[in-house]
Amino acid sequence: MTTAQTRQELDVQPTPLALLLLGREADPRSERGVECPGDLPLPSDPDLVERARAAKEKLGDKVFVLGHHYQRDEVIQFADVTGDSFKLARDAAARPEAEYIVFCGVHFMAESADILTSDDQKVVLPDLAAGCSMADMATAEQVAECWDVLTEAGIAEQVVPVSYMNSSADIKAFTGKHGGTICTSSNAKRALEWAFSQGEKVLFLPDQHLGRNTAVRDLGMTLEDCVVYNPHKPNGGLTAEQLRDAKMILWRGHCSVHGRFNLDSVNDVRERIPGVNVLVHPECKHEVVSAADYVGSTEYIIKTLEAAPAGSKWAIGTELNLVRRLANRFADEGKEVVFLDRTVCFCSTMNRIDLPHLVWALESLADGSLVNRIEVDKETEAFAKLALERMLALP
Ligand code: 13P
Ligand code: SF4
Repeated sequence: MTTAQTRQELDVQPTPLALLLLGREADPRSERGVECPGDLPLPSDPDLVERARAAKEKLGDKVFVLGHHYQRDEVIQFADVTGDSFKLARDAAARPEAEYIVFCGVHFMAESADILTSDDQKVVLPDLAAGCSMADMATAEQVAECWDVLTEAGIAEQVVPVSYMNSSADIKAFTGKHGGTICTSSNAKRALEWAFSQGEKVLFLPDQHLGRNTAVRDLGMTLEDCVVYNPHKPNGGLTAEQLRDAKMILWRGHCSVHGRFNLDSVNDVRERIPGVNVLVHPECKHEVVSAADYVGSTEYIIKTLEAAPAGSKWAIGTELNLVRRLANRFADEGKEVVFLDRTVCFCSTMNRIDLPHLVWALESLADGSLVNRIEVDKETEAFAKLALERMLALP
């Protein structure tokens, strides 16, 4: 099978960030952060846990460590709070006394934390190469070009942009500038309801699956109400008529982790484990979400398992670090938790934040050296904040 065939069959677009090349100097832009100034401890250093604890203790209240649910166990143990992207954005904003916010997550999350915290607070991402392939699928230039296409089709005035948290600060700023809001997987329904109270159509960026799943499952639209705008094709691959007829204009982006689950994953697990409950993240394809029993954000997944009765069986369609942690946590309560697919499925960029990088970041801060700061420029920040605050104010 050729690479082109594989891409076509998997419905995968080439991304500007070729993750497999990281560290080989083939793409200096995407390799930013692979080398850390100073000494990055060796992963085999037996004192890493102690070193992280000591540096954190030395920093005291000056540091606040946030950990997304997809982070490794070795990192999560040092998080002051854990959560999904919505909860972490709120938690960062609620900690004005912390001088340093160390974000154990990915780049777009650290940007959002910088936007929502005060100018005196510094947000640090322990490895700058912790990006997100989905966020990279919508660039500012592509989105500006899309807006021109919508303008030419005579519909831009009716369109409200709704951007998933998993997008760059530039895309969030575009959204704010054009009267739109940000959403996360836990408030996408409310965000879409708000957007349709403001306009007739939504441009949903950059995750087509979250957009489609929310529109069809939660808002009762049909698949025909949705069109997919492909930034790699002239006019997004759509005619002006198709754009005028659509209610949801979905950006052609996806999560490379959740996109790997398919209908076979659901059918197989139901055959293997009779009575199993299938619980998946809304970044999964529509066919997977339609075949599942429950759908929701990482925070929803955890709460559902907490409330589940002993003896129940669960197949979870989300990132593997979280599923493994949940399987261990709930085993003692007699709840069986398995991964939805047999294929191992870590998020490679979430996994870039490991204990050596965390130790390096904390020790640098404790020694008075500010490293890997994520800082969004003022103009971008102002418009992006507008869009984020619209999200935080959603009913
Ligand atoms: P949530 O944490 O909002 O569920 O999002 C999942 C995800 O893919 C984060 O990158
Ligand atoms: Fe991006 Fe998917 Fe990884 Fe989340 S899990 S950071 S959406 S690639």
